[in-house]
Amino acid sequence: MRLRPICILFAFLAIAVTTFAQDGGAEARTTAPPASLTFREVSIDPLGADPDTPWTVHTDTLDVHAEPSYDSPVVGTLSRDAAVVGAYCVIVETDEEWLRITGGETVGWAPRTGLHRVHPKNADAIAAHGNLPFGSEIVIRWWGIPIGYEADDLVSLPEGYAGGRDPEDYRLRREAAEHAVAMIDAAAEAGIEIYASSPYRSGTTQQGIYLRNVERRGLSQRFSAPPGHSEHQLGTTMDIAARSTGRFLTKDCPEHLWMQANGARFGFRQTYREDNIDATGYVEEPWHWRYMGVERTAPSGDATAN
Ligand code: DAL
Ligand code: ZN
Repeated sequence: MRLRPICILFAFLAIAVTTFAQDGGAEARTTAPPASLTFREVSIDPLGADPDTPWTVHTDTLDVHAEPSYDSPVVGTLSRDAAVVGAYCVIVETDEEWLRITGGETVGWAPRTGLHRVHPKNADAIAAHGNLPFGSEIVIRWWGIPIGYEADDLVSLPEGYAGGRDPEDYRLRREAAEHAVAMIDAAAEAGIEIYASSPYRSGTTQQGIYLRNVERRGLSQRFSAPPGHSEHQLGTTMDIAARSTGRFLTKDCPEHLWMQANGARFGFRQTYREDNIDATGYVEEPWHWRYMGVERTAPSGDATAN
């Protein structure tokens, strides 16, 4: 099965237009919306799931607004763990994402900020195996894993592979860590000095990073994944930095070119690329590499995920 979700099929979507008066009451948390906004429903490939699989609230409370704007009156408030179904929309003028909730006790618009959604295949795999099988985990902007999921085979990276940081805080699942170490060693032999930066992140750590990023950049940001929707939580993924600069790999820097030529030999793939931005929902990240298993990243492998 191809995991690529073809998530935003704007070309085939009915574009609904709503016009409403701007309510100046509440303090704006983003730039003030224009007097009228246009939204378009986003068709998200369910990847084998029921399209009405509910979204779940991950913040203590989540205000529901009359219209898709923080300036619009609050018509209800959802509590943590509330499950809501609705149409997922992008506001054209602001590029913000909102869920139009049409059923249940609270009808209105909830900002994406406080919502996450578990793909049923992930839930089934966790129930069957405990740890998610390498390479078939479904983690994109619109489908994810439980925020409390943590693989039980996380190990610290050995001294020297974490750029001088405390390796206790730099963990990957054992198989991914072994392949990362072999890859970093092979790079060093080729004169390329790379190291792991920010590998495993728990769901709650990711939540903090995400909410801070939304606070700083607004609801339209595509840099930081919502909790449950980050590959870092899988324990298979690391951001890679270059020892020469101490910074993340940049596109086509020597270290990135080496990873592009060799990462697959060790089961790693750059999962956020220029060619799959619409599929993953995140910006291109030359530094972000995910362990999928060597058999998947080999030239003859099942190169379906991201
Ligand atoms: N930067 C990627 C999308 C993450 O936060 O997992
Ligand atoms: Zn990353």
